[in-house]
Amino acid sequence: MFITVEGVDGAGKSTLVRGLGERLAAEGIDVVLSREPGGTPLGQQVRQILLDGEDMDAWTEVFLFCADRHHHVETLIRPALNAGKWFISDRYVDSTLVYQGYGQRLSLSRLRAVCELAIDGLWPDLTLCIDLPAEQAISRQLERNRLGQLDLSFYERVREGFHREAELTPQRFEMLKGDAPADEVLESAWQAVQDRRARLSALEHP
Ligand code: TYD
Repeated sequence: MFITVEGVDGAGKSTLVRGLGERLAAEGIDVVLSREPGGTPLGQQVRQILLDGEDMDAWTEVFLFCADRHHHVETLIRPALNAGKWFISDRYVDSTLVYQGYGQRLSLSRLRAVCELAIDGLWPDLTLCIDLPAEQAISRQLERNRLGQLDLSFYERVREGFHREAELTPQRFEMLKGDAPADEVLESAWQAVQDRRARLSALEHP
């Protein structure tokens, strides 16, 4: 099963990814935890350019995010899934659609086309999106890099973008309340994972 975790910066994604990884491992499930950008050695270099490199225009950023993603898919995600492992990625394709599409206002149809090329059909089985009001997202950010934004309206567009994308693909998205304590967020995420797992196994063994 391929799970992605999404949400605005500061929403608590990495805590949730760790928590889910521990629970799955405790059930004897072989799970790989990763993130974008930077899930592979090449991706780490791309991440460095994106976060600390020179200024660039928004489409250049898209191609770098997508180069990182394509390499991630082909060298890590697909091989792990083919080997029967579970895979959890902290950010994936929805981050590009939402940050670059709704946040930076690039054409969503063009972004979808580029993203499709990057993932080559590998859509997640489940996307857990941690929802957090924009003010809280900003106040939780301790470190800021080149991509870090202070602009409240940017985060409001990003938050709205996640909601819109979730409405478009409700069978894949699960919205989680990010202003709840971390163990409650983990609990609702765990429930969503169990539900999705049951639905997938019903499809496989009707
Ligand atoms: P990171 O430090 O990984 O942030 P976080 O811990 O919140 O995930 O930096 C990633 C930044 O890049 C974050 O601001 C979101 C942004 N981003 C995009 O704009 N588009 C993308 O496709 C991805 C994967 C990330």
